[in-house]
Amino acid sequence: MCGIVGYIGGGGAKHIIIDGLKRLEYRGYDSAGIALAADGRLAVEKAVGRIANLEARLAEVSAEDSHAGIGHTRWATHGAPSRANAHPHTNADGTIAIVHNGIIENYAELKERLTAEHGVRFRSETDSEAVAHLIGLFYEGDLLAAVNRAARELRGTYSVCAMAAAEPDKIVAVRKDAPLIAGLGENCNFLASDIPALLKYARMIYLIENNETVLVTRNEISIFNEKMEKVKRDVFHVTWDADAAEKGGYDHFMRKEIFEQPAGVAETLNRGSDENGAIKLDGISLTKRDLEHIERVYIVACGTASHAGLVGKFAIERFARIPTEVDIASEFRYREPYINAKTLFICISQSGETLDTLAALREAKSRGARVLSVVNVVGSSVARESDDVFYTRAGPEIAVASTKAFTTQLVCMYLIALYMGRTLGTLPDAEYERVLLELGQLPDKLTLLLEDEPKIRDIAKRIYKNERIFFIGRGNDVSVALEGSLKLKEISYIHSFAIAAGELKHGTIALIEQGSLVIALASQDRLFEKMLSNIEEVKARGARVIGLAKAGNREIEKLADEVIYIPVCADEVTPIPAVVPLQLLAYHVAKLRGCDIDKPKNLAKAVTVE
Ligand code: M6R
Repeated sequence: MCGIVGYIGGGGAKHIIIDGLKRLEYRGYDSAGIALAADGRLAVEKAVGRIANLEARLAEVSAEDSHAGIGHTRWATHGAPSRANAHPHTNADGTIAIVHNGIIENYAELKERLTAEHGVRFRSETDSEAVAHLIGLFYEGDLLAAVNRAARELRGTYSVCAMAAAEPDKIVAVRKDAPLIAGLGENCNFLASDIPALLKYARMIYLIENNETVLVTRNEISIFNEKMEKVKRDVFHVTWDADAAEKGGYDHFMRKEIFEQPAGVAETLNRGSDENGAIKLDGISLTKRDLEHIERVYIVACGTASHAGLVGKFAIERFARIPTEVDIASEFRYREPYINAKTLFICISQSGETLDTLAALREAKSRGARVLSVVNVVGSSVARESDDVFYTRAGPEIAVASTKAFTTQLVCMYLIALYMGRTLGTLPDAEYERVLLELGQLPDKLTLLLEDEPKIRDIAKRIYKNERIFFIGRGNDVSVALEGSLKLKEISYIHSFAIAAGELKHGTIALIEQGSLVIALASQDRLFEKMLSNIEEVKARGARVIGLAKAGNREIEKLADEVIYIPVCADEVTPIPAVVPLQLLAYHVAKLRGCDIDKPKNLAKAVTVE
């Protein structure tokens, strides 16, 4: 989720690029850098942390009147946040500088080739540095040709902006599956990954398409297709204000992040498998021997992440046959847990900075457990203190209510469990292949599911005035019920309550009366009939029921007042699609109630207090 800004015009490049980068702050970043055309060379400066740190360093760079430059905010994917890993990256002699947004999937191969055949020495741990060396290799005085030639070697997702010291009046950019726009100014032109970066300077925008290359000079923006033929593009006139632009046209970050889930799930799956589709857990060194040694797994987390842990428990016990416990981090450390060197401790955290989770991790480590973490923020405290880290690839999550972090955490937990089962031989090959295939189909199914938003919005209109809502489910739907209920209460302030459907009769059913609203999750075929009986139970006491089931399981319509359908998928993976309508429901209910959706009261994005 990096941000890119490029500027070429009449001086002041440094300030304009810094200003643009600050406007991309909402994308999340951990380091920043800039390259300026200065006195026939490229002056590069970088800093970890806030953009203000970069500004402070730039005060010493004598490129005050530079007329062209590129800048970047980095959200670490390959290599921790550090100055060396921050962009821009340059070729060996510093005559080419690039900034890159996306992931170069074949970077290891490129690195090996550049090192072996051309003696290139890499200075960072990033995939992006390979692009700078590649362009440098092909550069013969024509940056446009060199970028185009290099792009043919790249696999993965990218928007790249490049500059050459010998052609300080040009910036060349190329795009594949990562956002890129070009902006028309007066006597100056721009490049950026998002419109907000440019709003102060340019409202006439060219939206760059996949596989297009752009040549930007002070007076011209030329767009080329894959065959390097010039393309005519209509100008897009931006009329939004800065706030709307940051959210990419969505009303709230939460809704934007809900809609980013197909991409987040796909990206997390991609990073967890090799080119043949077999599971390859980047960053995890657990061998068969290590796994055979493990007698018990503890999954520890807070809030939404702990709900992902519950699904993880199901998956590990089912696929790897290792007893697994899930604990809330704030409780774990105070209850003398039974932990030793034969314990695998898995902690899940979006931010990687949740104090309770971190404290539990330290407790587990001190008792000799091996620690594996599932984290979204690269280089965060949880990541740094773990023995192994498996990153979710959700990108920065801005809304307090966690959505895309949750579904990508689920993907990680499934991949970890499948890997364990396969390695230990507890999961037959055919089962492994079947579940993996099901996971692989989820991004498309989620895209389809999100098209049902108007239906969910209609349901929200009918229920938003309820002051009490129950969520019930069985099996994995208990975790989804807990998560749906948490989502609803934290942003709409409705009192919601989730419980295993089979547990209702042991007390809670006393609360069900005429008009009570019950959301009944019946997403799994093997528990479908049982859930129908539970729906009957609450209906008999006058409840109004919104059911959720797989498409085709229409029996539920006979009992529920309305039904939300999710695409057909294997029982094991239903939590991923099943939670999406509940996220949307919470969102629309909160919106109708006029709540501050992205920043609910009393809550913070990262809870760094006990
Ligand atoms: O950053 P973490 O995943 O460690 O945060 C844990 C919880 O605070 C978090 O999941 C919280 O429950 C969500 N914001 C709820 O949407």
